[in-house]
Amino acid sequence: MIIPQWIIEKKRDGLELSRDEINAFIDGYHRETIPDYQMAALAMAIYLKGMSFEETAFLTEAMMATGQKLDTSSLTLPVCDKHSTGGIGDKVSLILGPLAAACGVAVPMISGRGLGITGGTLDKLESIPGYRTDLSEEELVEVVRKTGCCIVGQTSRLAPADKKLYGLRDVTGTVPSIPLITASIMCKKMSEGLQALVLDVKVGRGAFMKDLDQARELARNMVRVGRQMNTPVAALISRMDAPLGRCIGNALEVKESIDFLKGGVEGALWEVTRECTATMITLTHPDTSIEQARTQVDEALHSGRGLEVFREMVRAQQGDPDVCDHPDRLLPQASDIEEIPATSDGWVVDVDADAVGRAVLVLGGGRTRSEENIDHAVGISHLVQIGEHIHSGHPLYHLHSNHSDRAEKAKELLDNAITLGDSAPKSESVIIERL
Ligand code: URA
Repeated sequence: MIIPQWIIEKKRDGLELSRDEINAFIDGYHRETIPDYQMAALAMAIYLKGMSFEETAFLTEAMMATGQKLDTSSLTLPVCDKHSTGGIGDKVSLILGPLAAACGVAVPMISGRGLGITGGTLDKLESIPGYRTDLSEEELVEVVRKTGCCIVGQTSRLAPADKKLYGLRDVTGTVPSIPLITASIMCKKMSEGLQALVLDVKVGRGAFMKDLDQARELARNMVRVGRQMNTPVAALISRMDAPLGRCIGNALEVKESIDFLKGGVEGALWEVTRECTATMITLTHPDTSIEQARTQVDEALHSGRGLEVFREMVRAQQGDPDVCDHPDRLLPQASDIEEIPATSDGWVVDVDADAVGRAVLVLGGGRTRSEENIDHAVGISHLVQIGEHIHSGHPLYHLHSNHSDRAEKAKELLDNAITLGDSAPKSESVIIERL
């Protein structure tokens, strides 16, 4: 028997909790013998006092134990996934899943919806007519067996305590805590029956983690938890000060991903996608060097095999595979598309991801509460990229909107989002570090 308030008091006073205490508390919360208010108090105590690495690992295990593990034993290829901590225009999963599958990795990807300014992979895929993200675990494994890749939403059987706790953290100011984020992400990923995991920890204006030290600590914690559970985990820390790619908004990002899979790759989006995919290959095929893995990714892209896996995945998830050939006809389109021109010549030296994310939210492309509906058609396309030189009158971006008042507000938010300078900015890799 445990007394929940004694555990809360212990953490409040900065003491270390035991494995039994953490297990009992999380189990009680899951079974509803411990109410939300006591869980919220413990989450706040953890937020304020932190947790040791051992406590974080126990918390991860306790949350995993509230559900089941995906049975991937029928898959013959090595099973690996990638998780990103979320950013603006981050459509890496849509491109990486099919490319990794085309390179001999089985990818059962369980993704989330967008909340706040960061987009969600499920919302993007649901722009495709018919695409189902609510497959059962058996269906998920069957799609991976058939096509190599499947992208679905979280099922109620995998780490259910996390879903409940995440909702509670969202309304109690306890989301940005490194032990809580680590346990939340890792309990879901470790429930997927993976042999390896790649993490893309984002840092910058458009990310959860605003500074590099915090991002490093989060990445190190997650890598260590994975290793403790005998799963090789690699992490990249990547910049999220500017959006990834030229499109931000759900259907627009699907179209951009399809264009990428047809070979139209460029810039930071390709750099992150290529590196994460190559890392998935080296973790699951230890005899392959990172250079060889990069070459495999390039071949999967240029041969069109990645696009074919995407098409088959869409078909297997009951979406319309013709979206690959006719994205403009099959994806939802906004009623109004406006080109916003530059008013001077210059080099693009900055694009503010946070402002772009807010503008897309205002257009209706994101949600402020988890139960809100979103408008899949709206967003931004043709966004200029850092390092480009543009002339006055050249479009800075295209705004896709369905409501004129929302379009006006979005344009206001974007007014100062793009900075032009007199000289070319220093070119920097979007990947800051590898762990
Ligand atoms: N993503 C998650 O799944 N959990 C967190 O706590 C933060 C981001």
